[in-house]
Amino acid sequence: MKQRVAIFISGGGSNMVRLVEDMQAGDHAGEPVLVLANSADAGGLEKARAMGVATAVVDHRPFRGDRSAFENALQAELNKVSPDVLCLAGFMRVLTEGFVAPWEGKMLNIHPSLLPKYKGLHTHARALAAGDTEHGCSVHLVTPALDDGPILGQATVPIMPGDTPDDLAARVLVQEHKLYPAVLRRFCAGDQTLLSL
Ligand code: GAR
Repeated sequence: MKQRVAIFISGGGSNMVRLVEDMQAGDHAGEPVLVLANSADAGGLEKARAMGVATAVVDHRPFRGDRSAFENALQAELNKVSPDVLCLAGFMRVLTEGFVAPWEGKMLNIHPSLLPKYKGLHTHARALAAGDTEHGCSVHLVTPALDDGPILGQATVPIMPGDTPDDLAARVLVQEHKLYPAVLRRFCAGDQTLLSL
């Protein structure tokens, strides 16, 4: 039996595309069962449909001020497809402990920094401002604390003189597209040892 994988996105979904492509390439213990976005405008939705993956939208805006109602609606969509694994791939809403706890050990996230450095937003600008010579991305298991949880894989990139945050983001994204599929492939096969790229 394959591991049923759901993916949450908020935007263009380039990481989601790489995850789905890798699962569809064969010889993979996971299969994509749902791509869910928190906005109908998320560009990744159309890409998911084009790859033959079911999609859903739970717009966060009508739930403003009631995070648990939003999270109940997310969980209701998941219940329809019974996933085994949940991947956050550029999903830009904070999830509370009420949602995260039942998924602990089964929910992965990709974050554009070498965690534990630079949790939260603006990671590329913060790495530049700190004068770092190296930056990267991490895939980790999601726990209730933001961008925390056991690290499953990391990929590094050099920081070049004169880099802007956009330059650095583009360089990191190339590595994200290698790291996340590689980690998910291993995770679905039961391997949670650290991967370093
Ligand atoms: C990626 O760089 C991902 O690491 C980041 O959002 C981007 C989504 O791009 N995630 C976060 O910042 C989460 N805190 P994508 O939609 O093209 O995959």
